[in-house]
Amino acid sequence: MAEKERKTDGAGGGQEKHIVLIGFMGAGKSTVGRCLSRMLSRQLLDTDAMIEARAGMSVSEIFETRGEEAFRGIETEVLSGLAKRRVPVIVSTGGGMPMREENRRKLQKLGLVVYLRVRPETVCRRLADDTARPLLAGGDRRQRVDELLRLRDPVYMSAARLIVDTDEKTPDAVAEEILRGMGRPERGV
Ligand code: S3P
Repeated sequence: MAEKERKTDGAGGGQEKHIVLIGFMGAGKSTVGRCLSRMLSRQLLDTDAMIEARAGMSVSEIFETRGEEAFRGIETEVLSGLAKRRVPVIVSTGGGMPMREENRRKLQKLGLVVYLRVRPETVCRRLADDTARPLLAGGDRRQRVDELLRLRDPVYMSAARLIVDTDEKTPDAVAEEILRGMGRPERGV
């Protein structure tokens, strides 16, 4: 785990902020989010699920019928809505969320931004049977993942306070590493 800025009370600074998971498709944001939710007894909010609820259709259908830009617009709206939340939650974001500068600022305001880092080969392995990611549909998937990750990794890195490599780890191990990075006990909180 890389911690960009050490404070005496852990990388989280304030302990009662939201935990915001960012990273590429297949990094495990939703799965690790569920682990954190269980360990901390906090609600998990998944921005893709919120977008689907708002639009009344799946992410793939939004891309297909309304286009990526419309999806990105709803993504920013959903993120803005999270600012009103007072009770600390876990937020799992879509992989493209931090790519808008406006979104990065909003994410950082929400709380501790954690980058779940993943290698391209791990993404391809984990998403081998996936059909729900429109950005990876068709063509040479490995090449697409390589291109997107090359563009996005520096952006994720710059947005995050904590960076956790996930490749060889279980979701629980990643969640525990995040809690250690925050300087808080792993269980019974
Ligand atoms: C996207 C990632 C997806 C989803 C949409 C676009 C991206 O979420 O938001 O398909 O641009 O990387 P996951 O990261 O949860 O797969």
